[in-house]
Amino acid sequence: MDNRDIRIGFIGFGSMASAICDGLLIKQAAAPGNISACARNWDKLQTNCNSRGIKACRTSQEVAEASDIVVIGVLPQTVPEIMEELGDKLKGKLILSIAYGVGCDRFTEIAPEGCNHISTVPNTPVSVGEGIFVCESRHTLTDEQLELFKEVFGRIALLEFVEPKLLDLGGIVAGSTPAFMAQIAEGLADAAVKHGMSRAASYRIVEQMMMGTAKYMLDGDMHPAVLKDGVCSPGGATIKGVSKLEECGIRSAMIEAVDAIMN
Ligand SMILES: NC(=O)c1ccc[n+]([C@@H]2O[C@H](COP(=O)([O-])OP(=O)(O)OC[C@H]3O[C@@H](n4cnc5c(N)ncnc54)[C@H](OP(=O)(O)O)[C@@H]3O)[C@@H](O)[C@H]2O)c1
Repeated sequence: MDNRDIRIGFIGFGSMASAICDGLLIKQAAAPGNISACARNWDKLQTNCNSRGIKACRTSQEVAEASDIVVIGVLPQTVPEIMEELGDKLKGKLILSIAYGVGCDRFTEIAPEGCNHISTVPNTPVSVGEGIFVCESRHTLTDEQLELFKEVFGRIALLEFVEPKLLDLGGIVAGSTPAFMAQIAEGLADAAVKHGMSRAASYRIVEQMMMGTAKYMLDGDMHPAVLKDGVCSPGGATIKGVSKLEECGIRSAMIEAVDAIMN
């Protein structure tokens, strides 16, 4: 099947589902005419679907019938109700759960018998095709469905498979941390503004720096310490800043922030 022929349906079309949809459209992983969605508020759904050229459906059954891949994009507490509502309509479909905390075992309990599902936690940068799906290594997809999942969603995200007990942690490290990075970006831009740079230029420079730094490490398979050491010349300016950040406990602040979410 040509990628553009894949039919994808979103049950629930809030922040995360629409971010995934945007990434799929930008990366041409699916044609807009082959994407459908449903939600509770019809007017809001229509606006969100029309602006993307995708189909708004009145019911979840309509979405499931029109799709090869069904993305369960509702809040975790609503997933059981959706499973009950859809029942046999999910048979033979590739079901992609993005609900935080609903792993494979829990999904198998609430899904109609014999469903093929995979539990993941995505992050919002999927909307620009640079996201992450942390994926549970335990799933019930067929080999063919797994290949299809990788082919379609691998276009908009790194697909990182983790053992079941690490799915939630992976979701935090991938899903919550864009907020941490945004805080760092704000802080750096504030510093630049404090020393006379315009707000707009500060954000442009800091954001490009963050993207480039990540790409530099990823493309070169580079350890963060190697990058840092390469930027710090002996007795130079950068090591003074690095030393100050150490004094402020930057690394333990990151660890404590993840601890705070986990606890
Ligand atoms: N946001 C994130 O960064 C993020 C990250 C990782 C995982 N997730 C997961 O993604 C899922 C969605 O989160 P979100 O942030 O996108 O939430 P959200 O913005 O509140 O979206 C929830 C969507 O579900 C719809 N909905 C609610 N009940 C429904 C029903 N009975 N039938 C059909 N649609 C229904 C809502 O419709 P109305 O708007 O019309 O009420 C809305 O479109 C959650 O399970 C969450 O754990 C989110």
